[in-house]
Amino acid sequence: MKKASMILDKDYTIGRIDPRIYGSFIEHLGRAVYGGIYEPGHPQADEQGFRKDVLKRVKDLGVPVVRYPGGNFVSGFNWEDSVGPVEQRPRRLDLAWATTETNAVGLHEFADWAKKADTEVMYAVNLGTRGPENARDIVEYANHPGGSRFSDMRIKNGKKDPLGIKLWCLGNEMDGPWQMGSKTAYEYGRIANESAKMMKWVDPSIELVACGSSGSGMPTFGEWEYTMLNECYDNIDYVSLHRYYGNPTGDTPGFLARTMDLDDFIKSVVAICDAVKGRKHSKKTLHLSFDEWNVWYHSNAQDEEIKKREKWGQALPLLEDIYNFEDALLAGSMLITFLRNADRVKVACLAQLVNVIAPIMTRNGGGCWAQTIYWPFLHASKYGRGTALRALVDTPVYDCSDYEGVPVIDATATLADDGSVTVFAVNRDMAVDFCLDIDLRAFGDMKLAEHILLHHDDVKAVNTEEAPENVAPVAGPGGAVDGGKAQVKLPALSWNVIRFGRA
Ligand code: AHR
Repeated sequence: MKKASMILDKDYTIGRIDPRIYGSFIEHLGRAVYGGIYEPGHPQADEQGFRKDVLKRVKDLGVPVVRYPGGNFVSGFNWEDSVGPVEQRPRRLDLAWATTETNAVGLHEFADWAKKADTEVMYAVNLGTRGPENARDIVEYANHPGGSRFSDMRIKNGKKDPLGIKLWCLGNEMDGPWQMGSKTAYEYGRIANESAKMMKWVDPSIELVACGSSGSGMPTFGEWEYTMLNECYDNIDYVSLHRYYGNPTGDTPGFLARTMDLDDFIKSVVAICDAVKGRKHSKKTLHLSFDEWNVWYHSNAQDEEIKKREKWGQALPLLEDIYNFEDALLAGSMLITFLRNADRVKVACLAQLVNVIAPIMTRNGGGCWAQTIYWPFLHASKYGRGTALRALVDTPVYDCSDYEGVPVIDATATLADDGSVTVFAVNRDMAVDFCLDIDLRAFGDMKLAEHILLHHDDVKAVNTEEAPENVAPVAGPGGAVDGGKAQVKLPALSWNVIRFGRA
């Protein structure tokens, strides 16, 4: 067995982990809402039509915040269409996904769902086809107590108390030519700034996320951030990052190395934020909202067919990636990367939550099951809270098509407020088991409480409604702790959660 080692110290920390890094995303897209969280008539539907089996899964994941209602969808969305009596709401063509939106589920219903799911709404405003005026109005509608046009409209629509939405996105991917109303960096920076000012004048307690590039591969990446931040730095709180990875060539070692790119992306955006901070002589430090991340490529070809066949259909099965075991390993490494950058990444949203590139799948009229990526997300959300430790990891490395020096053992650790320590580790080696030596002496007398393992012999193994536990966590081989030093076996190609508590 090969060896890697990790040294941990309670004084050697990265920072507090903002629980919102375990956020997610529901867009009016595909079967995320209709057939996902909402399916009146389903045996599991509650009195409002929300599926209780889905709610349970979402609650189990412990998702503190859910971004809504888009995504590309939001750039052509009129929020007024989604409030008031359902039968009076308009049916609209959604140009983002070439489907028809019925508005049967709108802001009030989603706020109710969020409450049932023990989560908060992160609301995106339309800065594509609309602008500062509508952004101001929706904040007034949602958060102003009453006595004004839009707050009174909310009360008339049945919500006496403000919805209290704290976190708002200033549009979505506004650099992307595919976006309705896409903009240059300067145009966006100006509109974001004016919207931000007006939204915060209505409710100074809100926090705002400005759109960074829709991906680090965009030709304008970097320049976009610098230019738009020069316009809106003082009035916003976070910059967004989006990143999806795929493995169309079946190169598993190269695919699992993608978090090298993720880390570079985060560090680059941090550097640009700080450059603007310096240029502006500002005392304020911006944080990052990684508000779309996941694996996304399995469904591409199928989506082209569906869109050709069923243009303007409703709740079409779009972006229904079926995730395999290697996708779960990459998702685990992405979560490890966020933890390693916990000092700057304060929000992250797994995109998305149900059916659409999602950890939770449903069948209309049928079951609800967990995809492979559900498991690392659940483990990180459950155990990766408290303080992110700066783990000193010594591991062999490998080279692949895009990167040199990729750590074979991708690992980090967290310290919970109750004093327990959790190590998260991906063994990227296709064939070799590793022994991870963990130096825990700084924490006193600790014992190994649990080793959770996710492994499958087939990297392409998936979960289905018929075989929902094909890829599911089991008890790992664990190991010994002696004199503050632990030795734990990490099987080849595996996601590991190693929990230590007081002896
Ligand atoms: O999450 C799917 C889509 O990916 C979102 O609508 C968009 O913001 C991104 O391009």
